[in-house]
Amino acid sequence: MNMIFLGAPGSGKGTQAEVVSEKLNIPAISTGNMLREAVKNGTPAGLAAQAYMVKGDLVPDETVIGIIQERIAKDDAKKGFILDGFPRTVEQAKALEDMGINIDLAVEIAVADEKICKRMGGRRVCEACGSSYHVEFKPTKVEGKCDICPGNVVQRVDDKPETVLSRLETYHEKTEPLRDFYSERGKLKSVPGQEEIADTTALTLKAIGV
Ligand code: AP5
Repeated sequence: MNMIFLGAPGSGKGTQAEVVSEKLNIPAISTGNMLREAVKNGTPAGLAAQAYMVKGDLVPDETVIGIIQERIAKDDAKKGFILDGFPRTVEQAKALEDMGINIDLAVEIAVADEKICKRMGGRRVCEACGSSYHVEFKPTKVEGKCDICPGNVVQRVDDKPETVLSRLETYHEKTEPLRDFYSERGKLKSVPGQEEIADTTALTLKAIGV
């Protein structure tokens, strides 16, 4: 199954994508994680993306489309995949169609802006492997250390309150139109985000039909 996880920044797309990926044994492909890795490694795509990401702006379509095209072509994505954070504009969604990629389902995780602002302040990510935590809702076993690898967990540079507000504005303006895009194609399922991560997972799996 080829799926897209849609939702505002901090709605929990990445958290749910990781769980569903493990359950269905298909890769979760996060453009945010790939871009952060590219920035860390100083690749041309990373250098092009960095200034946009720090401000919370979207990276230009052509950069992200190139990255995703290359990733989807890999062998592990042949049996299905979850796209987390892509597409984020109607142009990116059309580019997927132009590549001849069939999308079975677009799952939207719906969370109100006020809740998002609270969540983002507590998010921590592993600077080595990108795993995501929350100081209150999903703490690490050892403070400051990743549960999965020896990396340190830190706050993302774009999780500062003013940047989060700007990311939410960008989401409403540029990404929300994708709800109509996939609804018109009969592919949209909306999951109301819950207070507990496990409760959102249960609703997400029900929406997917597993
Ligand atoms: P990206 O990394 O994709 O960021 P995002 O979409 O803003 O999404 P987040 O990773 O912030 O949130 P999420 O929905 O995955 O939530 P999470 O599961 O972590 O993109 C970063 C930047 O890269 C963009 O700003 C842009 O510049 C660029 N970029 C990426 N893709 C692009 C594209 N296609 N085009 C152009 N530019 C692109 O959860 C958030 C927190 O809440 C965590 O701490 C989690 O533990 C906690 N949490 C999750 N669920 C719950 C729950 N139910 N209850 C309580 N806490 C919860």
